[in-house]
Amino acid sequence: MALSDHIPNNVDLSADRKLMKGLTRWQPAYLEWWRDMGPSGFDEDLIWLRTAVSVNAKGWAHYDHVRMKDYRWGIFLSAPAPEEKILFGDHAGGSLWNEVPGEYRGMLRRLIVTQADTEPASVEQQRQLGSAAPSLYDLRNLLQVNVEEGRHLWAMVHLLHQYFGKDGREEAETLLLRRSGNPDRPRILSTFNQRTDDWLSFFMFTTFTDRDGKYQLSSLTNSAFSPLARATRFMLTEEAFHLFVGESGVDRVLRRSAAMTRKDPNGEASRHGAINLETVQRYLNFWYSSCLDLFGAEISGNAADYFASSLKSRHREDRYSEHQLLDQEYSIEHMLEGSLQTQEVPMRCAMNEVLRDEYIRDCERVVKRWNATIASFGLTFRLQLPHRRFNRVQGIHAGQCYSPEGAPMDPDTFDTRRHDWLPSSRERASIQELMRPIYTPGEFASWIAAPQKGIKGRAPDFEYVRFADPHHPAA
Ligand SMILES: [Fe+2]
Ligand SMILES: [Fe+2]
Repeated sequence: MALSDHIPNNVDLSADRKLMKGLTRWQPAYLEWWRDMGPSGFDEDLIWLRTAVSVNAKGWAHYDHVRMKDYRWGIFLSAPAPEEKILFGDHAGGSLWNEVPGEYRGMLRRLIVTQADTEPASVEQQRQLGSAAPSLYDLRNLLQVNVEEGRHLWAMVHLLHQYFGKDGREEAETLLLRRSGNPDRPRILSTFNQRTDDWLSFFMFTTFTDRDGKYQLSSLTNSAFSPLARATRFMLTEEAFHLFVGESGVDRVLRRSAAMTRKDPNGEASRHGAINLETVQRYLNFWYSSCLDLFGAEISGNAADYFASSLKSRHREDRYSEHQLLDQEYSIEHMLEGSLQTQEVPMRCAMNEVLRDEYIRDCERVVKRWNATIASFGLTFRLQLPHRRFNRVQGIHAGQCYSPEGAPMDPDTFDTRRHDWLPSSRERASIQELMRPIYTPGEFASWIAAPQKGIKGRAPDFEYVRFADPHHPAA
């Protein structure tokens, strides 16, 4: 069977011999990577997965029980909007580009490779989670997220192969060689080298890290380079499910935590097989602060260049009336000569911070919904997002110590308080102890509530995963 038959696509793959040749070479390396670094232990099992089969709003997804090794990773670009012009930056008003302009080649390649690298990275981070899934429903959702991150890699590799010639093909190869957390050849961004080996981390990751993905993708959906804009538009439709997995996952953890907190005379949910609310807060602090780093430096010449070149815009740039940002300024508060001071910087240089602002507002809405869940159990405990300066490793706040409220503090005091705010290895180990697989349809681990409904009209006790061998160590 021809490769193009294996790859659902709307880019007329079979008519482009050069692209076909490139992808025919890349695909075996991808499959080998998936076998070595993809989800561990479920190759022969039938997983109820959705597969993207078109970009048509009514029928883009097909659901069926499939083996992951037979999954068909497709290449889809959203349809071009007729008459669409470049929306922002120095080229605003001009026609969209269908080829890469020579002067922006390096910048565009960097943007695409950085995005692309996160996709296989998260699959690697989540590789072992299936063996401790709290239910078949959750196992299926994990594997769905994993295959879709694989498809996102395909989407970016398609751009590299089709538009960047030999360099693009080399980058595509290298994407399969880096490894999350490997000291010699790590993934590009720090959050994607963190361990994600328990399900509370996974739900925090899909809430906060996939949400960073949403904002990065969204800022590329208006790119003057049309194939990138159209690829990211379609990726966003899949990303929505990943965010759902994260937010609803934490919400279900909170339901058990809150119920058991109420039940225990000392308010300790962990005595009843659930997770303490304070532990959820510390995991939140860790993942959220790490994800804030992903937006890049607060004051950034690269960010200014991306905007000026009409490559990367603000989130939903179409909501704004002014798309040049030449005479505006942005105030950034940071430590200068020993005290917090406000500095005015040209708006274009603050584009990373502008995107971070949007992200923070979105995260605030999520936490508000989680707190409504806790409140519904009659508890006064509330989760809180730490200040954007807290626990930062990148940017102007890196290397300084701030409380979760954003107050400057000396490093010694920070260290004595560290485990009030961030999970200790002992706390992580206690979470790890809860990670036992539950593979009976309709049953859920003690630390997480059942979902209110299942996926795509199926009940929570639907057989989302059918094990090939009932004696399979996983079953
Ligand atoms: Fe993705
Ligand atoms: Fe994602």
